[in-house]
Amino acid sequence: MTGNADAARAHVSMCTGCHTIPGYQSAFPQVYRVPKLGGQSAKYIEAALHAYKKGERNHPTMKAIAASLTDQQIADIAAYYAVRGAAPAQVATK
Ligand code: HEC
Repeated sequence: MTGNADAARAHVSMCTGCHTIPGYQSAFPQVYRVPKLGGQSAKYIEAALHAYKKGERNHPTMKAIAASLTDQQIADIAAYYAVRGAAPAQVATK
């Protein structure tokens, strides 16, 4: 499926709260390190979101979010993050 990065803007607003803060850790239900999305390949992001949607990956928040997205929205979001290379401001300190 071909993703349209521009169409993703409305959806990624709900991702940025967690995924743009370098080193941010969500405290519930366990401490997780939130992965950086910008610059990852569209294929990888798309595969990860489908895995959450199908329950193959098991993070409760990401499962709920992925389940609410259509396949087209997932493709759009993947395209959006793939074109956002590793801008200096987004480099997470690991
Ligand atoms: C409440 C915080 C939160 C929000 C909101 C959120 N995420 Fe996540 N996301 C996480 C955490 C924490 C993980 C790591 C989960 C795990 O270990 O499986 C994750 C993992 C991911 C991964 C897998 C990355 C990898 O490197 O394996 C992708 C892709 C992803 N999120 C995309 C999104 C998208 C797209 C949105 C918006 C539609 C979104 N997330 C919204 C917290 C969040």
